[in-house]
Amino acid sequence: MGKGLVLVVLAWLASTPCAGAGEPGPEGWIRESRLAAQGLGGALMRELSAALAVSPLEAISVCSARAPAIAAEQSARLGAKVGRTALRVRNPANAPAPWQREALEDFARQLEAGADAAGLEYALEVVVDGATERRWMKPIMTAPLCLTCHGDALDPELAAVIAERYPADRATGFTPGELRGAFYVVWHETVRE
Ligand code: HEC
Repeated sequence: MGKGLVLVVLAWLASTPCAGAGEPGPEGWIRESRLAAQGLGGALMRELSAALAVSPLEAISVCSARAPAIAAEQSARLGAKVGRTALRVRNPANAPAPWQREALEDFARQLEAGADAAGLEYALEVVVDGATERRWMKPIMTAPLCLTCHGDALDPELAAVIAERYPADRATGFTPGELRGAFYVVWHETVRE
């Protein structure tokens, strides 16, 4: 199979009833992906709220250091790649892969059409170079507390620190309830002989 060739073998909606209960089947990895995103999102919200109460400058480290650290810890525990991405990123390292961009654009379209963010989810199993790859994504919506660092009226001192650390920042100008980005979990099959 040609390098980089992606063959889509299976796609299903998250609402599909569980087929093989108890089996380590597709529903299992989707459930684990949801838990990983909930864990990362919950931890970030708690740490952000606590740090913002001290100072927004303090809170920057939650997003810049804690978010990747928690994601790395979860990735190691699950044996999957857990992270955050967005159409407009602050850190270029979080830029979406082409399939992630498509999923984000699809989320945006569905939200525009009135969909409830809580019900949106992406789950797709593909074969890349003969190995199965399971891809999962879930929207991250903009909450009021996010505006401190992602809104359009940033405190000048904070804006200066962000500009210095993230010169390519494109993650400002968001409004509450808007799609900010997405959590993703990617499971790579271990190919055995
Ligand atoms: C104290 C400032 C601050 C607050 C508050 C904040 N963020 Fe961030 N956010 C950042 C920084 C800094 C980064 C870059 C992190 C990195 O280097 O990976 C970031 C990155 C992100 C990313 C990864 C994509 C990218 O742009 O690089 C997402 C998604 C995100 N933030 C969502 C949120 C959401 C949702 C909230 C509210 C719940 C929020 N942020 C609140 C500072 C903040």
